[in-house]
Amino acid sequence: MNYNEAKAKLDSIGQSQLLKYYDELDDQAKQDLLDQIEETDFKVVESIKVKDTMNVRGVISPIESMELPEIEKNADKFRATGLDAIKKGEVAAVLLAGGMGTRLGSDDPKGMYDIGITKHVYIFQRLIENLMDVVKEAGVYVPLFIMTSDKNNEATINFFKTMNFFGYDPSYISFFKQDMAPATDYEGHVYLEEKGRIATSPNGNAGWFISMEKAGLARKAKEQGIKWINIFAVDNVLQRIADPVFIGAVIDGGFVSGSKVVRKAAKDEKVGAMCLEDGKPSIVEYYDMTPELMDAVNEKGDPAYNFGVILNYLFSIDELYAILEKQLPLHVVEKKIPYIDENGNLVKPEEPNGYKFEQLVLDMIHQMKNSLPFEVVREKEFAPIKNKTGVDSVESARELCKKNGIEL
Ligand code: UTP
Repeated sequence: MNYNEAKAKLDSIGQSQLLKYYDELDDQAKQDLLDQIEETDFKVVESIKVKDTMNVRGVISPIESMELPEIEKNADKFRATGLDAIKKGEVAAVLLAGGMGTRLGSDDPKGMYDIGITKHVYIFQRLIENLMDVVKEAGVYVPLFIMTSDKNNEATINFFKTMNFFGYDPSYISFFKQDMAPATDYEGHVYLEEKGRIATSPNGNAGWFISMEKAGLARKAKEQGIKWINIFAVDNVLQRIADPVFIGAVIDGGFVSGSKVVRKAAKDEKVGAMCLEDGKPSIVEYYDMTPELMDAVNEKGDPAYNFGVILNYLFSIDELYAILEKQLPLHVVEKKIPYIDENGNLVKPEEPNGYKFEQLVLDMIHQMKNSLPFEVVREKEFAPIKNKTGVDSVESARELCKKNGIEL
């Protein structure tokens, strides 16, 4: 795209401010900016106009979870099914590591964070160690795909290389980048993060399958015989990945997807709860939890929305292909966005100053025919690191690791 084409594109959508500093740039920076303008999907910005109405919820009703006693009773059978699938090479894992980790406040990718006390224990290392348990049990490596973003791809790959992939066979690890979305002020004007660079951020954790497909990896995985993909968040240092019992429960039950859940610590806990929405599996976010939903009971007389998701899901790859063309809803979220002001200075705001646009994996669950909510023991499998201190922090995760006999 040349300058005139870029200008015409931007003029037609009211974003010509992005060329304000063009004349000050050197030739390479000029070309980079024109390339970015060509690649950027500005359509997402239109969703600001409909942000209050676009994600209207359907009718919420309870979903039945598979709870611990039932899982314990059938654990051997589930484990055998799950291990069989893993041994046949039908299961892969996808690490969602494209996020910015802003709450943790480190400049490095979140997985590089060291939670060790007497020795180095990096978040990525904990995840690989957890996956290695299954590799040892099954006697085969589980293909691992790691999703990064433009902002952390190089640092993530370099770190894995430097750390020798924490002992994982690198031929079973592939990296791919998720797409980026522009960030805007409250009027929908896209910010510049540098004079020659549009402000962008990763487009949410639901972009993973489309990006994996674009990178040619999803097709390859399918051709290779992979039938199930277990996606998981970067920040839960205790979670079991490619857990044979979970996989077996989903397969034996004839489900197309499964969602690991924990019993909520309190009815108003800030986690999304599994539910049915218009009869299809879904997640009601904590901020949508009305007092009625909090107090509702199911047929058994138990709290009806008592199981929170932990961002560890299993999907049938065929089902993922079936929904590939379907548009996922866009979430318009208020964030602090560093930007170049009208005087050409970089501003790092203390308060939110605009919008980012994200697609969330929970909306993928809603597009599934069904999803098995599968209970796991909270203290053994849920140690998310969102903040440095306090709730869901490095501190709380360290405590939980110690309780589980993990040396730090
Ligand atoms: P969070 O919603 O906790 O976001 O991500 P985050 O970026 O890690 O942290 P904050 O909100 O900026 O503090 C949950 C999971 O989804 C991944 C994250 O890497 C994490 O594993 N994620 C999030 C992506 O892979 N891409 C995204 O665009 C957003």
